[in-house]
Amino acid sequence: MPDDAAAAVVSGALAPEWLALPDDPNDLAPGVWPASAHRDADGALVIAGIPAPELVRTFGTPVLVLDEDEARDRARRTLRAFGDAAARHGGRARVYYAGKAFLSTEVARWMIDAGLNVDVCSAGELAVALAAGVPASRIGFHGNNKRVFELERAVEVGVGTIIVDSDIEIERLAAITERLDRRQTVLVRVNSGVHAETHHFLATAHEDQKFGFTLEAAERAVERIHELELVDFAGLHCHIGSQIFGTAGFRESASRVLELHARLLEQERFTATGADGSVEPVLNLGGGFGIAYTRADTPTPIAELADGIVDAVADECAVRGIPLPVLAFEPGRSIIGTPGVTLYEVGTTKSVQVDTGSAVAERRYVSVDGGMSDNARPALYGAQYSARLASREGVEGPVLSRVVGLHCESGDVVVDHEYLPGDVTPGDLLAVPATGAYCAPLASNYNHVPRPPVVAVTGGTARIIVRGERIEDLLARDAGIDTGSAVAEGEE
Ligand code: LLP
Repeated sequence: MPDDAAAAVVSGALAPEWLALPDDPNDLAPGVWPASAHRDADGALVIAGIPAPELVRTFGTPVLVLDEDEARDRARRTLRAFGDAAARHGGRARVYYAGKAFLSTEVARWMIDAGLNVDVCSAGELAVALAAGVPASRIGFHGNNKRVFELERAVEVGVGTIIVDSDIEIERLAAITERLDRRQTVLVRVNSGVHAETHHFLATAHEDQKFGFTLEAAERAVERIHELELVDFAGLHCHIGSQIFGTAGFRESASRVLELHARLLEQERFTATGADGSVEPVLNLGGGFGIAYTRADTPTPIAELADGIVDAVADECAVRGIPLPVLAFEPGRSIIGTPGVTLYEVGTTKSVQVDTGSAVAERRYVSVDGGMSDNARPALYGAQYSARLASREGVEGPVLSRVVGLHCESGDVVVDHEYLPGDVTPGDLLAVPATGAYCAPLASNYNHVPRPPVVAVTGGTARIIVRGERIEDLLARDAGIDTGSAVAEGEE
């Protein structure tokens, strides 16, 4: 340790390379926040016309705030981007909103209003979509282990497309469609061997993962489907990963999948028909379009992404002399991620000094009243987020901070690295942007912490779209409370 330790304390020494020291630790990085986000005259964060302190007075903390216009706008823009890109090649595109990113009846309705379809992957998600009034024909049903009752339900209600994932599932569907005497359209999920994550993609002969068929196995699966009376084959499906920037991975994957698609056309395997009764081959390339969690993330704008992917598919089709299939996409995060902002209250702060050998580095821990129970992504994936004071602007300069939750676990991190104003103090509100996707759906009750409400905001008004839990909700599940359990009685 240096002799004069106090003088040698360096605030930013523990900062990762990607985190730039901001001129103003109160600024709102463009692209990371909903477009409506700004600060009012008091310095408070405003979302969709409502200051954060007002939202918190009404709904408490933590609260997940969804900017409704931002979500609807992203949905519309996504559909337009892919629709326009396909139209330039004389084709058509469909967009399925991936409900796993966040699903409630309200959000499902926003998506349907915007012209999207909805992709679900469990009986629960299917129930939400149906409760929202989503026409069954506009639902796609995913999953590597759809249970028999789920497949039955899907066929019974007339789900538009089931994306089949295994030979066993094909046999189950064969039996179910016969038993119910109903036709069912399917896509076959293939594992193209391409896996993309953010800036890189990996292309292997076979990917070692649970989803889909290898390209060879898919050809045999389609042959089997062809034998089935009541199962119509619409095309292939492929999802290469999540939080993807750029189009290279999609291009590589589409190229591989189209080779099989072309062979299946030759074999006349496509039997599902479109609205006009003619056979309508589909190619579904999944979702995975990346968003900005921090200012270091620079996602490709959706229109550019759509053009790049669709042009690549059209090129590959031209090379093979085949018509452009109806293209389908399944974005979740890129639609609902950025509209979400989580508001927390700061409870405690403390500074920790770390001797790095050459200097004493300092990190400030800012504890908030939520954590891995409302956002598991940092703990699960090492995901990076950003944060800003939401109740006011700080007056002191930037201090390297780590925002942590209240759970009894040291991995309970909300924002790993962020520069926050030096005067962050208990009672301040803190906002974490880009929490609309894969936060509420992955929420837990760890440490018996109730899950927060989800509030939609638009044009200066706010309403609860998913109510928060109370401790009573958690106690209600405990069979030893209320009823006076048999064990307790027996012991008396
Ligand atoms: N289609 C399929 C078949 C998928 O498996 C997924 C995501 C999507 C579409 C939507 O992907 P998106 O556009 O939202 O990236 N929990 C992880 C992400 C898991 C994604 C699972 N599948 C996370 O929080 O990063």
